[in-house]
Order: sequence, then C-alpha cells, then structure tokens
Amino acid sequence: MPCPSSPILFLALCSTRQEARKEERMPGYRVPSDYSQEPPRHPSLRINAKEPFNAEPLRCNLLESYITTVDMFYKRNHGPIPLVDNIDRYRVVINGLIENSREFSMAEIRSLPKYNVTATLQCAGNRRTAMSKVKTVKGVGWDVCALGNAVWGGAKLSDVLEWIGIPKLTAVTSLGGKHVEFVSVDQCKEEKGGPYKASIPLSQATNPLADVLLAYEMNGEVLNRDHGYPLRVIVPGVIGARSVKWLDCINIIEEESQGFFMQKDYKMFPPSVNWDNIVWSSRRPQMDFPVQSAICSLEDVDVVKQGKTTVRGYAVSGGGRGIERVDLSIDGGKTWIEASRYQRRDVPYVSDDIQSDKWAWVLFEATVNLPPYAEIVVKAVDVAANVQPESVEEIWNLRGVLNTSWHRVRVRNASLPIASSNL
Ligand code: MTE
Repeated sequence: MPCPSSPILFLALCSTRQEARKEERMPGYRVPSDYSQEPPRHPSLRINAKEPFNAEPLRCNLLESYITTVDMFYKRNHGPIPLVDNIDRYRVVINGLIENSREFSMAEIRSLPKYNVTATLQCAGNRRTAMSKVKTVKGVGWDVCALGNAVWGGAKLSDVLEWIGIPKLTAVTSLGGKHVEFVSVDQCKEEKGGPYKASIPLSQATNPLADVLLAYEMNGEVLNRDHGYPLRVIVPGVIGARSVKWLDCINIIEEESQGFFMQKDYKMFPPSVNWDNIVWSSRRPQMDFPVQSAICSLEDVDVVKQGKTTVRGYAVSGGGRGIERVDLSIDGGKTWIEASRYQRRDVPYVSDDIQSDKWAWVLFEATVNLPPYAEIVVKAVDVAANVQPESVEEIWNLRGVLNTSWHRVRVRNASLPIASSNL
C-alpha cells in the first residue's frame, strides 16, 4: 500500500504497523519505550542508576538469609521493564538450525517436569566501584552486593529442547546448530533500541546436569517484572548476563550470538587494553564466573568496638565449583585463619557433597579479636583450588568486570582518632 501523503497520517500508520509487527513477534508483551511504567521497588535498595534501573541491597541486608528475598535481590537492567498484557497470548518461539520451528505457551512450559534449582546469580560488574578507584572504568558502579541466591523454579532447557527433537547431550544439531541464543523483548540502548540477546553452547543447554532453566518462579512465587516475568533463562554458575529475562525467542545457531552483550561487552581484557587498542573479537565472551568472596558485615571503612567481633560475608564460585575454604586475616593478609562456611545454618557444608547446593553461595563467619586498628581481608578457594587474586591492579580492565580481588575493609575502634589510623 503506498504511503499516504500526510506526514502525520503516514507516521501514525507506520507506527500502528510497527506495533502490529511487534505484537505478531512477541504476543502478549508490551514494551514501554520510557520509564513511566516501572514496577515498585523496595526503598532501601542502593540505586546505582535510575534509568535503566540498577540497584543492589545494602551489605547489612544481603546476608539476612541464605535465600535472598525477591525485594532484596539486585536488579540489573538495560532498558525499561516490559509488561505482559495477556499471558494467554504469550508464546516463546524456537527457530534456527532445527527441522521445524516451534512455539510454546506458558501452559505447555508448565506441563513439563518442574525443577527447583538454588543458584546464585552474580553480575559480572559486581565490585566495579572498587576497580574504578584504581583507574576509571566504563559501566554502572556496584558495591559488593550485585548478586543474590534464589530458588528458581521452571522447566529444564534440556527437556524443552528434547521436546522439539534435540536429544539430551547434543553438541551439534544435524543442521549444524552449536549454540542456543536467547532473545528478549526489552529495548536496549546498546542494541540501538533492539532486544537483549545472549547465547550458551548447545552442549550445555542439552545437558540436564547443567540445570539450565526456563524459570517462571523465584523463591516459590511467580517471577516478578523486574526479574523477567513471565519467563527467563537461568544459567547456573555463569555470569548473570547470560540469564536472559523476558524471553521472546530461542534460536539454534551455528556461532555464538552476535548480540552486543556477547560480542562488545562482558569480556575480560588484560590491564594493557584501552579504548584505543581494544579488539573485541580477540576475546571470548565470559561464561563461568571466577571464585569470589566479600565481607558484608562491615563497610570498606568502618568503626567497630574493639575486641571480639564476628565478621560475616559470602563466597561463591562459578561452574558448580563448591567453596573449599574461606581465609580471613585481620592484619592486611600477613596471617590468616579459616572462617566457618555454611549454606543452611546447622547443616555442615561439604563443598562437593550431593546434599550441598552446588550452584549456590556459601555464607561464612569468623569471630576475631580486633586490635584498635585493623585491615580485615577475605579470600576464598574453590574445589579446583582456584583462589582470588591479591590485588585489583593485576586484574583491572577497562569495563570493570570480574573484580574478584581480595576484599579488604579497614576498621578502627570508635574511641580512636581517624588521623592516626589513616582510616
Ligand atoms: N535480560 C534482559 N532481557 N535484559 C537485561 O538487561 N540483564 C542481564 C541479565 N538478563 C538483562 C537480562 C544481566 S547483565 C544480569 S546481571 C542479570 O540479568 C540480572 O538479573 P536480575 O535483574 O534478575 O538480578
């Protein structure tokens, strides 16, 4: 149909057509192009960026429980939060290098066996603020709480793929598909207004032991809008960036997703790389997160009572690697003691035990006798004997990702002057 001559009518018609096309591709969804329809959030969250909304709980709130409440779970977004107008119309489409494309409704997803997986989701930018103190980095600043531990409920991706004809433990489909791309509906500036995308290898997606979920529940409740309602991907043990929210389609593809967040972000570069010499294609997209730990019972600079103090925090490693040890020092790392670790209180934690939640963090605590001035340091060791690097300088990178350096806090007794302690 030729476009009408009136520019206003033309624009109106075009946008109606665009809306109709969008509606065809992502039935049920409505995607606001501004921030006027954001969901309510807990007032005590620390807001690191308002639009898109990025926030984390305060340290003192993060460790209130082993399972992080939905309210206190960090929120990491790249655009306005989508809305679902009509859940009965919602469909996820599976396309790409498969014999026939298929679509499924929420009712069909819910008819598959449901799994509850306890997994810690951690943003690759966790602890970026500390890295930016060494030298400026690009990205939203985060303290140490851009992570949370939840019970995710949903269907295993390996079951969904088997349902459409891709057997368990497939690495390549007969048509050459090697990766599974997840496409969302949100409009991200980095994608020039297009949707958020990420992919994982097909071998991981079809492995039931990798526990990759299409999740519709968080802590036993229907997912809320901030966390991906009605359906999101959860890739346990992998940086949060691959756990795509507001799922629209799944593509079986030959190469990794070419989306911005796989190719031009969330990659780890050495300290020598700067914005003039960066070659994005020279590095692989980051997947598993490295071993990490942080103290949450104290701020980086704090005032405490001298004497016995219990220091508490979390430790977690990617790839399902449990935490073998958490070391704590009160003299800046000269001498160390071992902190106790637990997941559920009163149940001894054994790092590689079948009873332990392999994708989840452990909480740690150690009671120490503090001198008037102290530098408290924590570092964790995972079951593969990976250990956190000592200094942030050696892992500094221009995007400020994966700051897993030893976490240090400096404390002094309340009655002592700041000047002499240099705190
Ligand atoms: N999915 C979509 N569609 N859009 C996003 O902005 N952010 C990713 C990931 N999935 C994102 C997304 C990033 S970087 C992280 S760390 C996690 O979601 C955060 O999940 P949460 O907000 O539920 O904590």
